[in-house]
Amino acid sequence: MSEGTVILKLGGSVITFKDGFMEANPASLSRLASEIHEAGREKLVLVHGGGSFGHPLAFKYKLHEGFRDYGQLEGFSRVHLAMRKLNRIVVESILAQGLKAVGIQPSSCVITRSGRIERFETTPLEKMLELGITPVLYGDVVPDLERGFSILSGDQIASYLGIRLNAEWIILGTDVDGLYTGDPKRDPEAKLLEKVTLDGLKRIIDEIGESSTLDVTKGMYGKIMELIPAIEKGVKVLIVNAKERDRVLKALRSEKVRGTLILRS
Ligand code: IPE
Repeated sequence: MSEGTVILKLGGSVITFKDGFMEANPASLSRLASEIHEAGREKLVLVHGGGSFGHPLAFKYKLHEGFRDYGQLEGFSRVHLAMRKLNRIVVESILAQGLKAVGIQPSSCVITRSGRIERFETTPLEKMLELGITPVLYGDVVPDLERGFSILSGDQIASYLGIRLNAEWIILGTDVDGLYTGDPKRDPEAKLLEKVTLDGLKRIIDEIGESSTLDVTKGMYGKIMELIPAIEKGVKVLIVNAKERDRVLKALRSEKVRGTLILRS
């Protein structure tokens, strides 16, 4: 039986040093590339975040606010170039393991409207998957029909592709073990949620949305919000800590692993 498609999103905080400026984390990347190789999934789409390549520059040029002045166009170019540099580093790490991978530039195949994907030409990507190549996409600055441009997160790409490709899994490789009952950085009693249904998730989001821990959990909160449409369509989501050895490997092999599994029901 052929395996289902897996979308693996690697967060920027896992593959770059978030406090640096355009500083990749080669040790993390090569370990993850070897886990991906060892897992041997037939159909894998990799999506990565921006970390210190995307966010500081996007913030500097206020790209998240959309097009307001011509000075931002330099930012469009620079953020895009920075993301291509990171994408190249990611693809090279994968190729070094003997896997086949091709970087795909979202800004030339996606158009958004007010920040949401409106059209996405996925045919080349699907053809690559059929051939046994891993397409490697990334959060990017993309043309937007309303705002001129917008920042498209890797999470929205992962969710969209999860639905479009009828994926079996979306695996979110982050720098935390998963979703907790509270903020683990502040509350020692906070417990990891091993399994959550969509209804449970919506309740958690309501609570987080109102709570004072929003600042710390905002990153995760935003990611989860993006994934809801895919979960509603029955794509299984697993959040794991990609900074810990073998978590991504086990997740890709569908083995039991520490993390949070989110199912429709
Ligand atoms: C951000 O993508 C892309 C840019 C800032 C250009 P993500 O939002 O997916 O990145 P991370 O995972 O949070 O770093």
